[in-house]
Amino acid sequence: MKIGSLEFAPQSLFLAPMEDVTDSSFRFICKNNGADMLYTEFIASEAIVRNIKKSMKKLEISDSERPIGIQLYGHDINAMRESARIAETVKPDLIDINFGCPVKKIAGRGAGAGMLRDIPKMVEMTSEIVKAVNLPVTVKTRLGWDVDSLVIEEVAERLQDVGIQALTIHGRTRNQLYKGISDWTLIGKVKNNPRIKIPIIGNGDVIDGMGAKEKFDTFGVDAIMIGRGTIGKPWIFKEIKHYLATGDILQSPPLTEIIDTAALQFKKSLELKGFPRGIFEMRRHFSLYFRGLPDFKAFRLKLVTLDNPQEILNTLEEIRIKYCNL
Ligand SMILES: Cc1cc2nc3c(=O)[nH]c(=O)nc-3n(C[C@H](O)[C@H](O)[C@H](O)COP(=O)(O)O)c2cc1C
Repeated sequence: MKIGSLEFAPQSLFLAPMEDVTDSSFRFICKNNGADMLYTEFIASEAIVRNIKKSMKKLEISDSERPIGIQLYGHDINAMRESARIAETVKPDLIDINFGCPVKKIAGRGAGAGMLRDIPKMVEMTSEIVKAVNLPVTVKTRLGWDVDSLVIEEVAERLQDVGIQALTIHGRTRNQLYKGISDWTLIGKVKNNPRIKIPIIGNGDVIDGMGAKEKFDTFGVDAIMIGRGTIGKPWIFKEIKHYLATGDILQSPPLTEIIDTAALQFKKSLELKGFPRGIFEMRRHFSLYFRGLPDFKAFRLKLVTLDNPQEILNTLEEIRIKYCNL
């Protein structure tokens, strides 16, 4: 499967862009665990155009992350075009446009999934971005605004016609937010539409090897993108690949390795984000790395409230002493 000149193995697994989750420290961990494609968190086009520090920081990528896409969102065509040009200067492998964010303050203003209510504008914006940059442009979106407007089949054809090089579809509508289960039927229909030549990446609720195999076999998608299933479990990429190759379930790593992974991500987070942001942004991850451990409440509380890096690392060692028979 190819996106522009980027070549991917069959049944590749992509890390989904997730705000406040897929920063470079988490991307580093996912890459080490077999993610085939990475994306930045979505970045507001207007913030890039206005050179806002926090957003410009999200544009920072490194060669070790390749292939990596920068994801942009916004409702203004000029700002989207200009931000794509600026993003191009940091040399990502592709630019991805977010037409899927359901959050009210974004979709309600016509950006993200809000664009599903104005297909002509969505097509025009995409076309302008494709013309503005020399990189592959891809889109990530949902099935439609609501169940009465499942527009994805039309959207896929029209976006392909203006030059996008891959389409990721999250099998929910905007109004579903993250509720219920994702419906892959329409993703499969888009993939099997003989007019569609670009790769179709399926997304929604894949959390293990069996689920991934079922999606590949039933819907024929070119790749699967995984979001929430990676948080606290970045080795999911290895697990799924092992299952796809052998049909066997790979055991999760031993706790002592999970502690090493969490500590490594924490150190990277501190290195890249500095103090105290590097600490704050690890808290969600810490909670999920250790879910399910018995009598863990006191440790969890420490991991999500301590603001001294050494005390946090010491807590990880206390967890090792208590739970690992070393
Ligand atoms: C915390 C969080 C942040 C997200 N941020 C983004 C984002 O920045 N850009 C985007 O396209 N989707 C974003 N999403 C949606 C995911 O990329 C993905 O489409 C969704 O979670 C469904 O996939 P999953 O079932 O594998 O999690 C986010 C989802 C979550 C849970």
